[in-house]
Amino acid sequence: MLTCPLCQGALSAVDNGVVCPAGHRFDRARQGYLNLLPVQHKNSRDPGDNAAMVEARRRFLDGGHYAPLAARLAELAAERSPARWLDIGCGEGYYTAQLGAALPQADGYALDISREAVKRACKRAPQLTWLVASMARVPLADASCNLLASVFSPLDWQEAQRLLAPGGGLLRMGPTREHLMALRQKLYDEVRDYDDEKHLELIPPGMRLAHSETLRFTLHLDSEQARADLLAMTPHGWRASAERRAAVIAAPLEVGVAIRYDWIERC
Ligand SMILES: C[S@@+](CC[C@H](N)C(=O)[O-])C[C@H]1O[C@@H](n2cnc3c(N)ncnc32)[C@H](O)[C@@H]1O
Repeated sequence: MLTCPLCQGALSAVDNGVVCPAGHRFDRARQGYLNLLPVQHKNSRDPGDNAAMVEARRRFLDGGHYAPLAARLAELAAERSPARWLDIGCGEGYYTAQLGAALPQADGYALDISREAVKRACKRAPQLTWLVASMARVPLADASCNLLASVFSPLDWQEAQRLLAPGGGLLRMGPTREHLMALRQKLYDEVRDYDDEKHLELIPPGMRLAHSETLRFTLHLDSEQARADLLAMTPHGWRASAERRAAVIAAPLEVGVAIRYDWIERC
């Protein structure tokens, strides 16, 4: 199912890597992932989330603070029983690994443009195919996936549509306008309103919203490390002032989580 990022020819496995009929060869990294992001498709030396952001997210997620979010994502995916699925913008793989566990019979793929993220992610579920690749040029064949996951990540909708088999769909998870409100009120004098339906305007013809739901719960963050990690893994880590961030990190925090799930089908 993998295609060459340079010429779109089918990739086949060779010793410790993959090769296309034109002879473009990509080695498997020591950790087990394939790097299918050619240097000419990179817009910086190390695109995507950096090591510090990835580590902060990994510590926070491994602390179990977002465990209900991952559990619901995995349940929704399992209900669709896809034969092949892809997590687009998988980060350090916390959600991907739970999708893999919920879909043991399926052929699972995950990609992220950040090598630091994929390097760590592939250790969580070695049975999946892990790729350093861009979501703008996904190295998978047309109509090859029955389910795409997009979790807190940007998305290239045209690519998503190209990858989906008819009847397949995109499982998108993203924040609602209420998400982390108490935290945002501590960080900013004026909390920016966030249109949590804006992504629906981007759904291309040929795809349609088939299901939406929101999961809400309260986080109790008693640990300073967890509060620092929550800031570091979100844009608040650089957007808010240093004084406000320090004040948030210093005191226990109770904050509401409110995350929206959308199932957007390929008609
Ligand atoms: C907010 S993180 C979410 C990561 C993961 N899904 C999670 O929720 O833990 C967004 C991810 O998208 C990745 N990303 C950004 N632009 C990308 C692109 N063009 N192609 C692939 N991944 C990209 C980043 O490197 C980052 O890991």
